[in-house]
Amino acid sequence: MSIATVGSPAKGKRAEAPTLAPWVRGGPADGARRYVAASSPTLFAPPSRTEVLVGDCREVLASRKSESVRCCVTSPPYWGLRDYDHDDQIGAEASPVEYVENLVDVFRAVRRVLTDDGTVWLNVGDGYARNGGTGRHGPNAVVGNTRKMIQKRNCKVPDCWGLKYKDLMGLPWRVAFAMQEDGWFLRSTITWAKRTAMPESVRDRPTSATEQIFLFSKSPRYFYDPQGVREDSGANLRNFWLLGPDPTNRGHPATFPRELAHRCIALGSGVGDTVLDPFGGSGTTALAAAELERHAVLVEINPDYAHIIRDRIDAAKAEL
Ligand SMILES: C[S@@+](CC[C@H](N)C(=O)[O-])C[C@H]1O[C@@H](n2cnc3c(N)ncnc32)[C@H](O)[C@@H]1O
Repeated sequence: MSIATVGSPAKGKRAEAPTLAPWVRGGPADGARRYVAASSPTLFAPPSRTEVLVGDCREVLASRKSESVRCCVTSPPYWGLRDYDHDDQIGAEASPVEYVENLVDVFRAVRRVLTDDGTVWLNVGDGYARNGGTGRHGPNAVVGNTRKMIQKRNCKVPDCWGLKYKDLMGLPWRVAFAMQEDGWFLRSTITWAKRTAMPESVRDRPTSATEQIFLFSKSPRYFYDPQGVREDSGANLRNFWLLGPDPTNRGHPATFPRELAHRCIALGSGVGDTVLDPFGGSGTTALAAAELERHAVLVEINPDYAHIIRDRIDAAKAEL
């Protein structure tokens, strides 16, 4: 696995940048600060490469070769939910309108590096227009191991889309429609039903236990392997996926299940293809890609998470 820091490694990071661990070494290359993992780049047999690039995905993707990945599997930060501790993080925009625009920009950059027959599998979550937000659920509350991002703007109803206090914002569909307008083909919406839903202290609506995964293609005809994943009965896979949380997801507050990434990769790429995750997080996409003998390119803005990715990949290697 190689880890590269594109541009200034700690640019915009609010806390001190961590000292690079001994397993990263190397020096300037191609005008960028670049680090190469000290461990062997061959992690799985047959070898699959994992590249982790630290930086803002909009900048990092601009430096990548066009049409170099077959499939993008990703989950961006949800608007206003968690603080990933970086000035350029997606999800901390003052308004959800800007959030949608930023995601369209990200996926425009993804489109350039995607092959013409490539696909994007996008998991994105919703949220409620809120008023207030103090105490346990207020601006400094902690979700998982990050601070909650209910800042001033999230404590009042966003002034857009006719939203009222308590309205579900419909963000996944707003993102999907904006991407359609930007030229993407919206081919499917998959409902991810969570075996274990996050408890919610609500008494006036059902607890949310589902999320959307959108399948977008760059062209009307694209690579999709219907044999990649089948229903138990042997039938064509349906767009309702009941998935549980991974017991091993530690150190990152917002991971998706490895089986989710597995399915998207198995359907959207072939052995030896390269899979991209512009919001790398703890590296779930890279693990699934390696298990399926695909290469992976991950971008992550917070260098601390690059270390988590390395730990998870090392642990997976040790299991072999
Ligand atoms: C929801 S998490 C992804 C979790 C991942 N799917 C997993 O299973 O581990 C989103 C990640 O995007 C990162 N991020 C936020 N803004 C970014 C940006 N502009 N460029 C690259 N990464 C960003 C955050 O630091 C966070 O780790």
